[in-house]
Amino acid sequence: MKPRKIKDNIYWMGFVDWDSRLFDSLIPLPDGTSYNAYLIKGSEKTVLIDTVEPELYYELEAQLENVPKLDYVISLHAEQDHSGSIPHVLAKYPDAKLITSPKAKNILIDHLHIAEESIITVKDGETLSLGDKTLEFIHTPWVHWPETMVAFLREDNILFSCDFFGSHIATTDLFVTDEAQFYEAAKRYYAEVMMPFRKVIKKNLDKLAEYDIKTIAPSHGPIIPRPSFIIDAHKDWIDDLPENKVVLPYVSMHNSTKKMVDYFVSALVEKGVTVEQFDLTVTDIGKLAIALVDAGTIVVGTPTVLAGPHPHAAYAAFLANALRPKARFLSIIGSYGWGGKTVEILAGLVPNLKVEILDPVLVKGAPKKDGFKALEDLAEAIAVKHKEQGLQ
Ligand code: FEO
Repeated sequence: MKPRKIKDNIYWMGFVDWDSRLFDSLIPLPDGTSYNAYLIKGSEKTVLIDTVEPELYYELEAQLENVPKLDYVISLHAEQDHSGSIPHVLAKYPDAKLITSPKAKNILIDHLHIAEESIITVKDGETLSLGDKTLEFIHTPWVHWPETMVAFLREDNILFSCDFFGSHIATTDLFVTDEAQFYEAAKRYYAEVMMPFRKVIKKNLDKLAEYDIKTIAPSHGPIIPRPSFIIDAHKDWIDDLPENKVVLPYVSMHNSTKKMVDYFVSALVEKGVTVEQFDLTVTDIGKLAIALVDAGTIVVGTPTVLAGPHPHAAYAAFLANALRPKARFLSIIGSYGWGGKTVEILAGLVPNLKVEILDPVLVKGAPKKDGFKALEDLAEAIAVKHKEQGLQ
């Protein structure tokens, strides 16, 4: 794709990736993604903000064909999907300097072997004059690495935010046109990448509130012409109060755990609790992550296998622990054959979750009357806890 004009002397470059289905060998990409770089031509200096995955450089190289001089390359974030082509760009423009945050400098040197003398570091709040345009660098750590920063183009009120406010979605729309579609992709992105850093995101949002941002240009997904839409969404997602919702990732081998899940879901619904259930043998892990953003309670459904939880259930627990959702309660349901340590092992996998553990329901073999009664009691306990805490 050729460069696309955003405003006079400001262009989108990069790569729209329609085909990839997995990011970092970890994150599902049902809608593809994009790697956005931005070219700004000031009256005196020209800069390129971020680059693309190194194997996609051929596209960026073609886009730079009619750019005879580049004064600066700006690296807002050192992860390879944005920094990986910097060595190629510096080779093409040997006089260009690389601008980045002090924390990013060593990461870029370690990962990309960039010469130290090519790098200029900028402090929080430092500015760079391009002549008739001014870039201000704002340190925004932990969205989602320690070195991340954003850049505000003062004269045009554009915030270049890199991963912050990003979305994994491939589209020919330069700007967001369908906010509902974008919301889903952005929430998925937040859930998978940003959720562990909820507390620091609040500080970064507070910091950005001082700026008159009229456009957000992230490094994944379309440009956002209505910043309040995505900023308000983030405020909602990071809010400490979860919803009156149970997320129920489960796996069943001989249908006993599945029978328990079906009964339990019905009991919760009768008590006014929303449920999202995920069969871990087939689910899109990104969908599970989205559900975890707002859930008040997580209940893992698993049979006992080789004296412990099913590996899919262990993976879900490990993932939830890493993503640190705001859930307040946790429980476990499932069936076992003759014994094991399913509850102890699963509980040990979630030390990061600040949750109250509600009495698990494990039944021997297929569930009977007393097992269903225990599920009914657990559903009631969850409904009461949610009500007590004001979850809606
Ligand atoms: Fe899009 Fe953290 O890289």
